[in-house]
Amino acid sequence: MIKDLEHALSSAIKSIGVDLPEGFTIQVNAAADLRFGDYQSNAAMILAKRLKSNPRELAMKVVDALDLGDLATADIAGPGFINFKVSCGAWSERVSGLLGDDRLGVPVASPSQTIVVDFSAPNVAKPMHVGHIRSTIIGDSLARIANFMGHEVITDNHIGDWGTQFGMIIHGWKNVLDPGALQKDPVAELLRVYREINAQCGDDETVREICKQELVKLQGGDEENLEIWGKCVELSKQGLQGIYDRLDVKFDYWYGESNYNDRLAPLVEGMLESGVARESEGAICVFFDENPKLADKPSIVRKADGGFLYSTTDLATIDFRVDQWDADQIWYVVGAPQQLHFQQIFAATKKRGLTPAMHHIAFGSILGDDRKLMKTRSGENVQLIDVLDEAVERAAKAIEEKNPSLEADEKEKVAAIVGVGAVKFAELSQHRMTDYVFSWDRMLALQGDTAPYLQYSYVRVRSIFRKLGQGVQLDQAAVAIVADSEVQLARMLVRFSEVVPSLLEDFRPNLLANYLLELAKAFHSFFEACPVLKSEGETQNTRLVLCELTSRVLEKGLGLLGIGVPERM
Ligand code: ARG
Repeated sequence: MIKDLEHALSSAIKSIGVDLPEGFTIQVNAAADLRFGDYQSNAAMILAKRLKSNPRELAMKVVDALDLGDLATADIAGPGFINFKVSCGAWSERVSGLLGDDRLGVPVASPSQTIVVDFSAPNVAKPMHVGHIRSTIIGDSLARIANFMGHEVITDNHIGDWGTQFGMIIHGWKNVLDPGALQKDPVAELLRVYREINAQCGDDETVREICKQELVKLQGGDEENLEIWGKCVELSKQGLQGIYDRLDVKFDYWYGESNYNDRLAPLVEGMLESGVARESEGAICVFFDENPKLADKPSIVRKADGGFLYSTTDLATIDFRVDQWDADQIWYVVGAPQQLHFQQIFAATKKRGLTPAMHHIAFGSILGDDRKLMKTRSGENVQLIDVLDEAVERAAKAIEEKNPSLEADEKEKVAAIVGVGAVKFAELSQHRMTDYVFSWDRMLALQGDTAPYLQYSYVRVRSIFRKLGQGVQLDQAAVAIVADSEVQLARMLVRFSEVVPSLLEDFRPNLLANYLLELAKAFHSFFEACPVLKSEGETQNTRLVLCELTSRVLEKGLGLLGIGVPERM
């Protein structure tokens, strides 16, 4: 709809003899206030300013010259806004078209690009903290959206499987490991070992020294240490896989940091040779003198003791992604505290002459009720797995109350879909940069801006079709939208095709989340105002088509957020 209106507007402007200034694009937006129409453009105002003419007069000339056919009518408001009111016939035609379109009107992005999405990336044998939760949920959703837009998406879990923590873990493995506990719950036992040694390191210089030695041995290729390291990585991966399965998050690759070990030394040598890096006080650094923001913030790629860093690994990883996968874009879904790190590696990569588009998709924190970083009662970081368990448990209780007649195994399935969906939606309905307060009650409420509310809306639509029984035939040709609330719902359904492509402009799944809430509200108002089951003929067909599309858009839209829908709840 927007494209058609923009096209008509641009023809009208040309036809009255106005040459569009360089770089000027005509824009039409969904109207914020529906009393003034469905869509709105401020093109005449912006243009008048550039041409130093009267905006209202220009708008009037443009509207007179507009040829909208049966699509819409236009009028002028305020200082020169052009408002469009789409005709019922046009809404009917669009809605009927959507019924036969499995993309629900969403265009395929052109050109299609190869996009590597780097997200989740927890550290082996360390707890997955709140930052990894956000990264996992946002990254997965962005990957789904990009994929639906027709891009070639590669998801890569760049786990921290080669950090300094291995000095502690190996020392702990050799001295304080409980094999029975390791068998029962490997991730928990590794974590316990890590925490115990970490605490000892705090108090005891000698333990710190021993851990350092273990790390040096590991890095030097000591067989025993390599074997312990390998086991830890394997066990951690299995534990993580369990969490990803519950979240329905998939990775094409798990190329962790260790994958790049052999590439680090030659990479740094190469940078020295090409002059991208130089020595400074024994360390090898990349300086960014040309960049005022980074001029006094060089990136160290090899320490004076010969050790490599997080940034060296990231530079090697970029090479790999470009060579191996021909990446056009690399997206890093990582918390805001790593902003400087990414600015540096992006700048260094440019200096090295590589050209993928790289984006640091940052996010804020999750806060507890006290508005401080969310912690457990004992003061530790909250673990994702516990959050999921509790969400599902609470959902199960609510389902038990609302719908006790569901079969036990269906109850369990629905509780998982609702609980996990609630956690994801609480995340995805916020602007990613806001720090949000975690609240169970808000997250799981059936009324309010939640996943359960959307899932319930979906269930409600499907129940209409269940009541009608088999054999409902929707007639694409007999769609006639008339009533106000039918128009409102139609407008929201058509908006899906406009909202989805806009999500990747600034990596904002929250726009989709908010859109779905608006759609559900439009549906409930429609359903209250327009009887469906009791209507007949073309009216019933039209309303059923609106219902069908509502459920398809809800299912698809939630799917792009990584959230499932139950058939009952
Ligand atoms: N493992 C890192 C952390 O927990 C995140 C890695 C993000 N990805 C990257 N390519 N640097 O902070």
